[in-house]
Amino acid sequence: MKPVIYVTRKVPEDVLQSYRALFNIRMWEETEQPVPRSVLLREISQADGLLCMLTESIDQECLAAAKNLKVVANMAVGYDNVNVEAAHERGIVVTNTPDVLTETTADLTFALLSATARRIVEASDYIRNGNWTNWSPYLLAGSDIHGKTIGIAGLGKIGEAVARRAKGFGMSILYHNRSRKEKAEQELGAVYKGFTEMLQESDFVVSLVPLTDETAAMFDETAFQNMKSSAIFINVSRGGTMDEEALLQALTTQRIRAAGLDVFAEEPISPEHPLLGLQNVVCLPHIGSASETARTKMLELCLTNLNAVLHGQEPLTPVP
Ligand code: DGY
Repeated sequence: MKPVIYVTRKVPEDVLQSYRALFNIRMWEETEQPVPRSVLLREISQADGLLCMLTESIDQECLAAAKNLKVVANMAVGYDNVNVEAAHERGIVVTNTPDVLTETTADLTFALLSATARRIVEASDYIRNGNWTNWSPYLLAGSDIHGKTIGIAGLGKIGEAVARRAKGFGMSILYHNRSRKEKAEQELGAVYKGFTEMLQESDFVVSLVPLTDETAAMFDETAFQNMKSSAIFINVSRGGTMDEEALLQALTTQRIRAAGLDVFAEEPISPEHPLLGLQNVVCLPHIGSASETARTKMLELCLTNLNAVLHGQEPLTPVP
């Protein structure tokens, strides 16, 4: 009997095709809408493996319903949606998708940083709304990127890839991380700073920390107070790393200049959310790793990990 895997979102058949011989694949047949909780609880009770997205909370209740489950393959590098400790207690392996999305996410981080600094979305809307009647010297003037200082909170693989791009732009690189990154210090000239010092000295502050108990709301009122009034805040990790209310305050009172956000406390963010009404905020719908190539590689890595665990082997990218 082939092991049963449940895939929580409709994904391209050509990627699944070669795995159909190995697994009995069950799948939620919608692309846009996440699987309803009741369906997930029912399906997980029969599955040997789960391929899930960051939209699913794989919590105690879910894991308790999973009678045969041996592996959860989360299609993301972040895994704050999975109760890893509870899974491990039940002998369930958890895997994620590092590496294959590193450069793609760094590209998006830099695109968001550039769009925010140079007011790209505002400028595009300006033309589309018929406001461009004349050229003028300070029309939509933004902030320079070259020659400025970037402060990266979380110098993991994506952080380092962002730092490489920053170096190409002639930026000075500061970072704050749980541990020192000597290679990045030597090769990129990245300078380690305490969190407060990094905030005080950076023109661009980028959140790339994973969401954990330690990093939850680390960008709070005090953090925004510590930034320069010309600072631009970029968040491409998880919405939970920032206190959205404090960010809103900092932006509306010009405590900081602007923000570029790919992630939010609640996703999808409500269209009525006050952050979306601010001109100095560029918002994206959590598309950090959303290139066709990266998403396909993430999916393939999940399937490879499921196959390994369900056939008694070590997965390529287990979550410790
Ligand atoms: C991740 O992998 O954690 C991203 O946020 C999803 O693209």
